[in-house]
This record gives sequence, structure tokens and C-alpha cells, in this order.
Amino acid sequence: MVHTYHHPVLLQECIQWLNVQPDSVIVDATLGGGGHSEGLLTAQGLLRIIAFDADPDAVETARERLKPFGNRFTAICANFRSLATELEKLGVTSLQGLLLDLGVSSSQLDDPTKGFTYRREAPLLMKLGPSSVKSAHEVVNTMPEEELKQIFFQLGEEKNARRIARAILERRKEAPLMTTTQLADTVRKVIPERFAKKSLSRVFQAIRIYVNDELDSLKTVLRDAVTLLSPGGRLVVISYHSLEDRIVKEFFRFEAARQIENKYYPELAEPKEQRLRMLTRKPLTPSDNEIAENPRARSAKLRVAERV
Ligand SMILES: C[S@@+](CC[C@H](N)C(=O)[O-])C[C@H]1O[C@@H](n2cnc3c(N)ncnc32)[C@H](O)[C@@H]1O
Repeated sequence: MVHTYHHPVLLQECIQWLNVQPDSVIVDATLGGGGHSEGLLTAQGLLRIIAFDADPDAVETARERLKPFGNRFTAICANFRSLATELEKLGVTSLQGLLLDLGVSSSQLDDPTKGFTYRREAPLLMKLGPSSVKSAHEVVNTMPEEELKQIFFQLGEEKNARRIARAILERRKEAPLMTTTQLADTVRKVIPERFAKKSLSRVFQAIRIYVNDELDSLKTVLRDAVTLLSPGGRLVVISYHSLEDRIVKEFFRFEAARQIENKYYPELAEPKEQRLRMLTRKPLTPSDNEIAENPRARSAKLRVAERV
């Protein structure tokens, strides 16, 4: 099979901001097609990378691609929420950098077995890998209307959440929704044509985030990363939607503060340990050129913090 790899987003920026030194160990927590790992291993000849991906297909492809780097590259098929335990098993107790390039890759979106996008007919699964316990069809076929609405509203920021949830309940009275096309057609029935694409993206995104518990995994990996980073170690995160970016921003802000604020009683603010220094006040975004070459990069936001 000929593989077209996912195009790594903001690659040069990641290399520059991770600022990897010889003999350091860094984690690429979202290996995907291995584009960022390859760029980093090439840029710094003595670097070692431990990479994670929840998707066994991604791990297998990237392992093959990165074979030339020998034992400088190790790939683990696991959700990055278990980063700390996986690294402990390898005897790795400190890191000099961690990269997170969140979401799914173009290879996963294009894969007709995974069902991540309404643009392709596929079974309604949306599982990143075996660590995801539910499938998308279980969610849309069994969840009460109110909960579905909450998922679309909170995880997709979809204004027509109620109307879409109701349409799904009506539709599933006839027969369960088992494919991406059946779900997309159900949404299209209640959303005007000119808004349909945006609503479809938001609904699919919401279900994917829910199925894979993506926001909780992100919170866990950020917390563990700070503990594992050695002083001067960098945390580089690329996010693709505002829910993720908000978590990253708030987390960096909290860890960069020297006290816990009390909004109404400022005199009660408590001192705390500052563990991070924010290196990007505003997130970095791809250039127009990069977006023209790789439209998927358009919503990317990169934030960097350093362990103090
Ligand atoms: C945007 S892609 C990364 C692409 C990669 N940087 C490259 O250059 O090819 C995100 C990858 O992270 C993986 N992923 C997302 N959430 C994950 C999680 N919680 N644990 C492990 N892997 C995850 C996805 O399976 C996907 O392969």
C-alpha cells in the first residue's frame, strides 16, 4: 500500500521551540504518521524520542518509517493519559521536552474503517484505538436526548444542539444509525444547507471528543508532563479547537502563577510553587503559505511553556 503521510503542522516551529539538546529524551505524545518525530530526530542527531499513539495503525506505520533511527526511537501504543506509568515501566524518570499535536491525523480522517468524518462513508466508530471503550454508534443510538444535546453544545459548541439531538432520536426510532452518512443525513435534515458543513464538523468533533474522552486525557497528560519535565524542559502543544486551546492556556497560566488568586478577597491569595514559564503569550499560528499547502493547519494554535 502506498502511504501518503499526514503533513506535520508547524514543524520548524516545533523543532525550534522544543530546543532539543544532544542526549536529551523527549516524548512525542501524538506520534501519528511520525512527521514531527522524524523532523526532530533529523534536526538533532543525538536526540532520543519516546512516542505514543493510541492508534495501533499509526504506531505500526510510524515504526516502519522511523526504523532508520534505530534505538533512538521507541514507539508505544497507548493513550497518552497513561504517559507516567508507561515511562515508569521504561525507567524514564525525567524528560527534556514533550510535544502534543492534538486531534486526529489526515490518514485517520481518510481511513474508511474509522468513521471520523462526515466526508466519507464509514461505520460510525470514531475510536482512536482500543483504549476508547465506546463507539460513536453506541453514543448516538443509546444516549438520552438531553445528554446528546449537551455533548453537541459543550464539546462541539453547536448552537442547534437541541434540534440535532431531537432529529437523531426521531431517526433512531426507525432504525439505528450505523454509518457516518446516516448521521450526516440526519443532521442535514434539520440544518439549512449553507450552515450544514459547519454543523456537521461540530457534531462529528463533539462525538469524537466524547468517545475518546479527549479533554480529560489532555488534562491528565499536561499535569503529568509538568512533573516529569526537568528544569528548562519544554512543553509544546498544538491544538485545533478552542476547547483544547482553553485547557492548555488555563493550565499554563495556573502553573506559571506564583500565587493562587482569590477574586473577591485578594488579600487571601495563597503563595504557590511556580512550575512553568510561558514562552508564548499569544499562540503561534501557521503562515499563509503553510495553510495554502496544508489547509488542515488553518486552525492550529501552538503554545510553549518551560519548566522552571
Ligand atoms: C494530529 S495527529 C499527529 C500527527 C503527527 N504529529 C505527525 O506529524 O504525523 C494526532 C495523533 O495523536 C493521536 N492521539 C490523539 N489523542 C491521543 C491520546 N489521548 N493518546 C494517544 N494518542 C492520541 C491520534 O491517534 C493521532 O494519530
